[in-house]
Formats: sequence, structure tokens, C-alpha cells
Amino acid sequence: MALDASIVYLNGEFLPLNQAKVSVMDRGFLFGDGVYEVIPVYGGRPLRLDEHMERLASSLRGIRITPPLSNAEWASIFSRLIQGAHDQSIYLHVTRGVAPKRDHAIPPDIEPTVFAMCTPIAPLPVDGIRTITVDDIRWDWCHIKAITLLSNVLLRQEAIDRGCTEAILVRDGYAIEGAASNLFVLVDGVLVTPPKSNELLPGITRDLVLELAAQHGIPASERRITLQELKTAPEVWMTSSTREIMPVIELDGAPVGSGSPGPAWQRMQGLYQDYKEILRRPS
Ligand code: PDD
Repeated sequence: MALDASIVYLNGEFLPLNQAKVSVMDRGFLFGDGVYEVIPVYGGRPLRLDEHMERLASSLRGIRITPPLSNAEWASIFSRLIQGAHDQSIYLHVTRGVAPKRDHAIPPDIEPTVFAMCTPIAPLPVDGIRTITVDDIRWDWCHIKAITLLSNVLLRQEAIDRGCTEAILVRDGYAIEGAASNLFVLVDGVLVTPPKSNELLPGITRDLVLELAAQHGIPASERRITLQELKTAPEVWMTSSTREIMPVIELDGAPVGSGSPGPAWQRMQGLYQDYKEILRRPS
């Protein structure tokens, strides 16, 4: 049975959000020592659940936390948290746990803190977003979905302060990804996205867009994107689980292409929405 929307999961219990409490000695609170996932849910079904669980396993491995739950246990938690058929997203969060004292060294025999909640997905900006480029000031393990998001928070805020929605992070003259999204640009009719590496999060939406491109004969390539290519591309998109495929209409104050969502985006958006509809259909 699904629970009330304000019910969350914390360390083996389902309880009201306002009663979910974590110790101030939790290493997630003290050090940002943990990882997370965000999984979109359509028609009551998580999108690409296996891929999200694989990425979680990889993030946990990357920071040396033994998986606290099996995939079947996670799935059963999600089915209790998911409410109805509206678009929503599961947020799950695993920290190293509560330590006896504040010490950078990882204490032996520590139990991870496990948290999950499900919230509605906000309506999406289909008329396009404004963006800025910023220096990528993050660490070197961006492939790990770590809860330590201070750089991402500050860079996103810089975009908001400048009247934009997202920041595009640039490192050594190459456009990498967004503060909380992956990046695609159109170069000579080819959809280009940077290859997976430690410089960026291996986005699940990114992979789905590449898969849809391959299935529908849309030329695509995984290679690095120069700042020059970004600045002259007729279309730029940013992808994420909760914001899907966002067409970029402005970059550093200049219009991208015609300044409105382009035809390649219209096509991919149609394919992506059709893909989501499959989940919404009763099986
Ligand atoms: N962020 N890159 C970064 C840095 C991200 O934080 C995200 C997602 C993505 C896109 O990944 P995916 O397609 O798997 O959602 C890329 C989530 C949504 C967040 O932090 O809320």
C-alpha cells in the first residue's frame, strides 16, 4: 500500500517527513560524506531503475560504502513511497552514517544512514532556458554522484543571480556539463555530448537521449566540446532526470541559434515524451 505523500523512509522506518531526524554526528552532515540518486517516476513506474541502481552501486563503491540494501529492498521502499500516477521523483541518499566523533578518517563498523522520499516533479520550461558559462571549480571525481554539492550550488546560484536557469561548466577550454545536468550541442548536424569520464556525471537521461538518437537514425557522437563549438552551435540542450531535455535559448547573453527551441530538439523531445508514455500505459 502506498503511503501519504509526506511519508519518507529513514533507516528501516516509514515516518512523516517532519519526524525524520538525523544525528548532527552524521558524516553526511559533518563532511558531506555520502552519495545520492534522483529517479523520475511516470505512471507510477520509475524510469530506467536498473541504470539508476547501477550508478548508485558505482557511487557507493567510489566512496567505499558497502551497499546497505539490495536492489529488491530499494524497489520495495520505492513502491511504498510512490503516490498515484502523476510525474514525481524519488530522491535517495546514503551517508556513511553516524560517527562517535568528528574525525576525517573513516571509522570502522559504521552503519550507513539511508534516506528516501518521493516528491512531485515541477512543470518544465519547454520554451527554453537561459544559461551562462562558468569555470568548473569542482573536484576531480565528478562521475560520483556525491552529496557534496557546494560548487554545484554556488555555480547554479551564479546563473540565477544573472537571470539564468543553468550554468555550463568549462574546464581547460572545453564545455563539460551543467551544474546539475548534462550537455548536448549540435555541430554540423551531429548531436555531440562529452564522453563519460571523471569530469562529469554519467547521466541516465544523457544515455537515453543517445539511445533514442541511435534508434531513430539521428547522427550522434561522444566527444569533447570546445568553448568555440558551444558558442556557435545552432542548438544546445541540457538534460537531467527531473528536467528532461531543456533547450538552451541564450548563452552568456547571446541567442543560441534563432533564440528559440530548434527543430532537432523538437524531434528529440517528441521521442522522449513517447518513451515516457510507455511507462504511463497500463501493462
Ligand atoms: N542531477 N550532471 C550533474 C552534475 C547532475 O547533478 C545531474 C543530475 C546530471 C544529469 O543526470 P541524470 O540524467 O541522471 O539526472 C548531470 C540531479 C537531477 C540532481 O542533483 O537533482
